Amino acid sequence: MAKLTVAVMFGGRSSEHSISCATAAGVFGSIDRNKYNVIPVGITRDGVFVPALDSVDHWALSDGPLPVVEFEGSRLDFAMDGSRQLFVIDAAGSRTLHANIDVVFPVLHGPFGEDGTMQGFLELAGLPYVGNGVFASAAGMDKEFSKALFLQAGVPATPHVVIRQHDWLADPESALEAVRGLGGVPLFVKPARAGSSVGVSKVKRMSEFAAAVALGLEHDTKVVVERGLVGREVECAVLSSLDGGPARVSVAGEIVVTGREFYDFEAKYRDEAAVDLIIPAVLSAEELAEMQRLARKAFEALGGFGLARVDFFLTADGFLINEINTMPGFTRLSMYPSLWGATGIEYADLIDQLIQLGLTAKR
Ligand SMILES: Nc1ncnc2c1ncn2[C@@H]1O[C@H](COP(=O)(O)OP(=O)(O)O)[C@@H](O)[C@H]1O
Ligand SMILES: [Mg+2]
Repeated sequence: MAKLTVAVMFGGRSSEHSISCATAAGVFGSIDRNKYNVIPVGITRDGVFVPALDSVDHWALSDGPLPVVEFEGSRLDFAMDGSRQLFVIDAAGSRTLHANIDVVFPVLHGPFGEDGTMQGFLELAGLPYVGNGVFASAAGMDKEFSKALFLQAGVPATPHVVIRQHDWLADPESALEAVRGLGGVPLFVKPARAGSSVGVSKVKRMSEFAAAVALGLEHDTKVVVERGLVGREVECAVLSSLDGGPARVSVAGEIVVTGREFYDFEAKYRDEAAVDLIIPAVLSAEELAEMQRLARKAFEALGGFGLARVDFFLTADGFLINEINTMPGFTRLSMYPSLWGATGIEYADLIDQLIQLGLTAKR
């Protein structure tokens, strides 16, 4: 079979820029080079598409500075005429063909990557791509609307209220009244559309609430306020089936955080000692089956395609969904690939299956 050319798109305009670079490093290191030509497509923090190194070491997270995609004079330019051509424009402005792309693997997290905007761009360009489509990506990014869809599908979600910036500024007392209905502290306040725990606060005293809302509103025009739950943080991985049947769901994993209030940005990326990923999570057969059923339902509720990680809290009242991630962390050590590894699909095979799904996508 002829080799396929895969554009691996990474970096981007979100606060998860460097995490995306690390994911790209994982893909560069493991993708089957006998089957695929790899074309790295870096996206700078300003959103400029640039040629980038096909290197594991350059993009992996290390003790040094975080990896960042930089503009160095040349830009990449996707044809918008359905020809699937990728051009390079050099510093002098001359435009030449760089590659003919068969499929794009957008390993982008957060806004402008995981939220449907890039998916819309790829649809317009007529480029096949890996993962969720426009709607599922947009819905999954938005903690207000994804919760509404989960609840409608019968997937229990954390009790919450949404506060919009203009309502908060105009009438904070009404917002506080709604928040009191959640039953008091602790509360979690989050920007509705972010990720990596950026802008998330745990509020233990109501005197801290206004500052938490203000922080959340630095990242979005609305915040979600949730009842602070006591329970275990458990996650599973969803992968569409190659034969078009129901999506597959992995075994569960558990996140155990010690010495920090919650699974915040530091715990996720900088304080390895604070976090244990337990795979598989210790659950009864009934609990696992229930969690897998809910994960599939949540994925279907959004019209998911390709992949997602679905995160729950296991509380005394059973499973409550926290969120869905439509492009979860995907380095070799990340939860999503590790869950599939424990379920019998190795990293390189997982990349292969995702690309095959992307090529034949019927979203
Ligand atoms: N309602 C809640 N109760 C208890 N802990 C929570 C709650 N919401 C979030 N957390 C903690 O905060 C972390 C980040 O919240 P999350 O909603 O997953 O944001 P992000 O989309 O940035 O990952 C979670 O992994 C969990 O540790
Ligand atoms: Mg999360």
